[in-house]
Amino acid sequence: MRVLAVGDVHSPRFLEPFLGGLDHLERPDLFLLAGDMVNRGKAYEFRALIDAVHARLGSDFPVVACYGNEEYAEVRKEISSIVSDEVLFLDEASTEVQVGDLKVGIVGTQGSLDKPTNWQKEHLPSIKGAFERRAHRAKSLLKRMRHRVDKRVLLMHYSPCLETCEGEDSRLFAWMGSRKFYNLILSEQPDLVIHGHVHNAIMHQARIGDTVVMNVALPAVGKVTELNLWRPTVRCIC
Ligand SMILES: [Fe+2]
Ligand SMILES: [Fe+2]
Repeated sequence: MRVLAVGDVHSPRFLEPFLGGLDHLERPDLFLLAGDMVNRGKAYEFRALIDAVHARLGSDFPVVACYGNEEYAEVRKEISSIVSDEVLFLDEASTEVQVGDLKVGIVGTQGSLDKPTNWQKEHLPSIKGAFERRAHRAKSLLKRMRHRVDKRVLLMHYSPCLETCEGEDSRLFAWMGSRKFYNLILSEQPDLVIHGHVHNAIMHQARIGDTVVMNVALPAVGKVTELNLWRPTVRCIC
């Protein structure tokens, strides 16, 4: 089962390299978008981005997305209405996708940070509770689908582990991701975790127990990530 995954296109900022990369790819069975697909809340950028994906790869495959911090809360409704027929947004929600003989359960969330950013502290006074809630919710959604699907995927924006943040200043990890998610992944062991957000990472893959974790942020990886969901591989076991 061929899966394509990408995050952090920040359209229009990295739209050109994203589109250039698509020219070398074949139609996937599933396309995952890991957030920050548009820059600074520019909802309308999603339309051009999805049109370009369809023009190059076709449209007969599901596209599932989570939101990133650049898809501001106040434009999320607008974004999902702009591409409502083409993209399924999972915001602390799950879906099950049948591809051939394989039923894939996907849980989507923005994820959490260990420490709110200064902006979040100032503008979102309840953010710490939201971070806590997102981790609980993701765990419960993964648990619920455990016996119903063949493969479980956690699609999130922030990172769940230090390993895929290597290359960033380690003192910044608290603003890259959250150990809350590391712990829930360790206990639930989904087959695959896809995340973005970490632009300067040099290590794009890791493991948490048996779970393969991949950072698919375009500025870090330099291209759309291709993987086989039957056998997600990891170059470095950390
Ligand atoms: Fe980003
Ligand atoms: Fe981000």
